[in-house]
Amino acid sequence: MAVKMKTVFFCQECGYESSKWMGQCPGCKQWNTMVEETVKPAGKAPKGIGTAPDTKYVSPKTLNEIVMEDEERADTHIGELNRVLGGGLVRGSLILVGGDPGIGKSTLLLQVAGFLSGDKKEVLYISGEESLRQIKLRANRIGDFSDTLKFMCETNLSNIEEAVIRTKPEVIIIDSIQTMYNENVSSAPGSVSQVRESTSVLLRIAKSMNITVFIVGHVTKEGQVAGPRVLEHMVDTVLYFEGDRHASYRILRAVKNRFGSTNEIGVFEMRERGLQEVLNPSEFMLEGRPENASGSIVTCSVEGTRPILLEIQALVCHTNFGFPRRQANGTDYNRVNLLMAVLEKRIGLSLGDFDAYVNLAGGMKIAEPSLDLAICLALISSFKNRPIADDIIAFGEVGLSGEVRSVSMAENRVQEAAKLGFKTCIVPKALAGKLKTCASSIEIIGVSSVADAMDILK
Ligand SMILES: Nc1ncnc2c1ncn2[C@@H]1O[C@H](COP(=O)(O)OP(=O)(O)OP(=O)(O)O)[C@@H](O)[C@H]1O
Ligand SMILES: [Mg+2]
Repeated sequence: MAVKMKTVFFCQECGYESSKWMGQCPGCKQWNTMVEETVKPAGKAPKGIGTAPDTKYVSPKTLNEIVMEDEERADTHIGELNRVLGGGLVRGSLILVGGDPGIGKSTLLLQVAGFLSGDKKEVLYISGEESLRQIKLRANRIGDFSDTLKFMCETNLSNIEEAVIRTKPEVIIIDSIQTMYNENVSSAPGSVSQVRESTSVLLRIAKSMNITVFIVGHVTKEGQVAGPRVLEHMVDTVLYFEGDRHASYRILRAVKNRFGSTNEIGVFEMRERGLQEVLNPSEFMLEGRPENASGSIVTCSVEGTRPILLEIQALVCHTNFGFPRRQANGTDYNRVNLLMAVLEKRIGLSLGDFDAYVNLAGGMKIAEPSLDLAICLALISSFKNRPIADDIIAFGEVGLSGEVRSVSMAENRVQEAAKLGFKTCIVPKALAGKLKTCASSIEIIGVSSVADAMDILK
């Protein structure tokens, strides 16, 4: 029988050690920070990443001595995913994909597996959650798959390692890490130490055999990948799949990427035949805009290198209670409060007796300061009940004195607006001169304060 390893509990914040679990750490008084960890028997140092299993000592190398293999990135044939990964799949990398239940993680990875196997790459899809029949049902819906894609229902990591050694795939997909278990750890699958130990086994497999590993991770109620934060440190790339339960589109966002930028997003739509890329998110976000309604204006946010037009809606109405309600959907609540204080003090709007609701139509979540000007204009428009023309967009950061400050990548924003047929663009005055030439079909109006911008109200 295998010798069970000893486990102790460590505080993730201060490192306090205890033999039993406690809700509050006696060391730093933080709650819920104790996690179980295994104590390895002395004398067995863990092997380093990328070393052959039987080498005892590897001498340090100079940069010139490190042999670079062909570092070409594999094309996943899903443009939006390539973009988020920083230009394609890097061989031997570990990619964690997190997301709410039912958001489409398995669907996305099955599609990736399909495309990669179409390129004659050996792919092994390991599911610990679904039966082979369930996977086949989904696969039938999505399309045709080549024979280089193989499936396996398995949760025991030593069996998985065995299968990997025998089949030598180039890409492995683990769905999900919370169902995997390592026999050396006594706690149940999904527990903190199992998740960590399992990931470290996968890390070793990925780096020593140069295999790309996708790991699906469930998220907690707070929206973080279940398990310790350390999981995110172990992998090369962390992708979050998010989206509104009620909308069909999904956003893939990189929160960590060792091989590319973390600002990029990919936009998908869930359809009968799987996830489809949304090539023009602006059009998608502006679908169904109300005409001639007060409290609505379009703005442009930049995610990574890509501008996206969004509709900002505000509703300001008399409060029926002593204490006015404020609500922000899709943007920062505190920022909205701050902007309302600016409007009250600098423009003299007495918003004290009014409830205010601000909403980013389409369910996107963006906390970029460039949205400030549009939020202010939407609030004023709703307060005064005067609509703003449909072909105007506005962007700019608003400071505490009500001044409009410049933002980055203004040209891209104006060009995106011109592309979708907008006629007027309200921009910070500091940028107006520079932007005059960037699109001929659009009129640029520079404003130095929110009060200046109010002229656009009908
Ligand atoms: N026939 C269908 N037509 C359109 N969409 C479908 C269809 N069948 C399933 N879906 C969508 O696929 C989603 C499930 O996708 P998937 O199983 O990939 O999610 P997941 O993130 O892997 O979920 P889990 O956390 O349970 O593993 C459903 O929520 C639904 O929106
Ligand atoms: Mg799934």
